Amino acid sequence: SVEELEARVQAVKERMGKRLFLPGHHYQKDEVIQFADARGDSLKLAQLSAENQDAEAIVFCGVHFMAETADILTKQDQTVYLPDMRAGCSMADMADLNQTEKAWTALIELFGDTILPLTYVNSTAAIKAFVGKHEGATVTSSNAEKMVSWAFKQKERILFLPDQHLGRNTAFNLGIPLNQMAVWDPMLERLFHDCPLEEVKVILWKGHCSVHENFTVTNVKQVREQFPNMKVIVHPECRREVVDLSDEAGSTNFIIQTIKNAPVGSAWAIGTEMNLVNRLIKENPDKHIISLNPNMCPCLTMNRIDLPHLAWCLEAIEQGEHPNVIEVNKDIAKDARKALDRMLARA
Ligand code: 13P
Ligand code: SF4
Repeated sequence: SVEELEARVQAVKERMGKRLFLPGHHYQKDEVIQFADARGDSLKLAQLSAENQDAEAIVFCGVHFMAETADILTKQDQTVYLPDMRAGCSMADMADLNQTEKAWTALIELFGDTILPLTYVNSTAAIKAFVGKHEGATVTSSNAEKMVSWAFKQKERILFLPDQHLGRNTAFNLGIPLNQMAVWDPMLERLFHDCPLEEVKVILWKGHCSVHENFTVTNVKQVREQFPNMKVIVHPECRREVVDLSDEAGSTNFIIQTIKNAPVGSAWAIGTEMNLVNRLIKENPDKHIISLNPNMCPCLTMNRIDLPHLAWCLEAIEQGEHPNVIEVNKDIAKDARKALDRMLARA
């Protein structure tokens, strides 16, 4: 039963104490996040992993790329576990190293040595390592503007992997015209651009989040029609047109803080993952909150981490086994760390 599983998780946590650290992303299910030692957006969870010196076991309640990041940032003798190895991220899978190397060769041929690569943390360790090797950095949704501005101080143009929407929304906020943003299609191995090549400032990788791409202009229009006083707040992984029509856009942490600090009685339609939207509805009974798209599906991979997997993983660790260890290859970790450190130094 649920109660029995909860008691098992709680018991391991109590017995292991500080030897165990359980970070949880805001998109995790309630049944899991209730046990998190710290909740956060991607940036905070990366910072906490880098700072944690005590825990010998870090059980990451989030997706694979986050656990890889934690492994890269923690000490040799700390082990990172992911309760279910199937908790991947479809966006991270949209850029593989082979495709990225091909793209880079083609882009260097077109633009010469004028490009700095940046990657959203929602990418594999191998992509972070590629970026780190080429003097670039990682970004999260809460520091993307800062990091893109930094990148433009280094080089004339950027390659932004793998989320075209976060890249476009960020560059747009920094005043870069949409027609100076080209798109690299890794399937067609082609660059699509609307201005002369020498004017291209941003090269967006053609990747997206399959959860956030489901919020549409029609959703925003319907909300505006049905609830004229309702504000719309979305994650910047949403399409440009959706962000454009919204009142606010930002990371999961930004969304949580904005709703928390909003006036009593205010009304909000939220465009982000469902577990978080449902939690915000529960935690803010003094506000009228709905999902921007009522037919939304949750992030299926985030949801793979559930109570049974958590209980199994924790008990195995306590018994001295090593279930679902996330261990990034040392050479990859070394270069990926450069990209992460460049971000953490400025975050
Ligand atoms: P943030 O929590 O950094 O906003 O990231 C959202 C996300 O999609 C994580 O997978
Ligand atoms: Fe990946 Fe989107 Fe799920 Fe985040 S919400 S883990 S970007 S698929």
